[in-house]
Amino acid sequence: MRRLNLGCGNQSRKDFINIDDRPLPGVDIVRNLLRGLPFDDGSVDEIYSENFLEHLPQTECIWMMNEMHRVMRSGGLMTHLIPLAGSVNFWQDPTHLAHWHPETFTYFQKDHRRNLYYGGDIKPWVVETPIEINVNSVMFVRMTKP
Ligand SMILES: C[S@@+](CC[C@H](N)C(=O)[O-])C[C@H]1O[C@@H](n2cnc3c(N)ncnc32)[C@H](O)[C@@H]1O
Repeated sequence: MRRLNLGCGNQSRKDFINIDDRPLPGVDIVRNLLRGLPFDDGSVDEIYSENFLEHLPQTECIWMMNEMHRVMRSGGLMTHLIPLAGSVNFWQDPTHLAHWHPETFTYFQKDHRRNLYYGGDIKPWVVETPIEINVNSVMFVRMTKP
């Protein structure tokens, strides 16, 4: 089983390949993920990230999601914990670059109606709905590659 923990910081997870662009304790691969995921197509079983996606530039978010899609095997699950756009948890941090809202994930749903406008640039996922949001305005997003 190959499992990735992206933007792990110092919160490494057992049985995961922990990746961050800083050489913190527990990091297995030091890499700027904007250079891509160093794995072959369809070679990853699971992806996890916590407080990571909102730190990427907004313009790179679709690219990053598609990169995760590339390395994920069919049926693979990814889970992302992300502060809800518009919440205090989201706005308070000056290093948050990208806004994510539950509706944002519908754009990654297979057969989303707006895919017509985007020329198929967004790779499709099956998004588990409704997306859970906790009292700290953290969204728990689960998506499976069809
Ligand atoms: C807010 S911290 C979250 C750390 C940890 N996941 C947690 O929940 O405590 C965001 C992490 O993402 C990493 N990060 C941000 N942009 C990155 C990039 N382009 N490539 C790799 N790691 C990145 C940062 O170095 C940082 O450790």
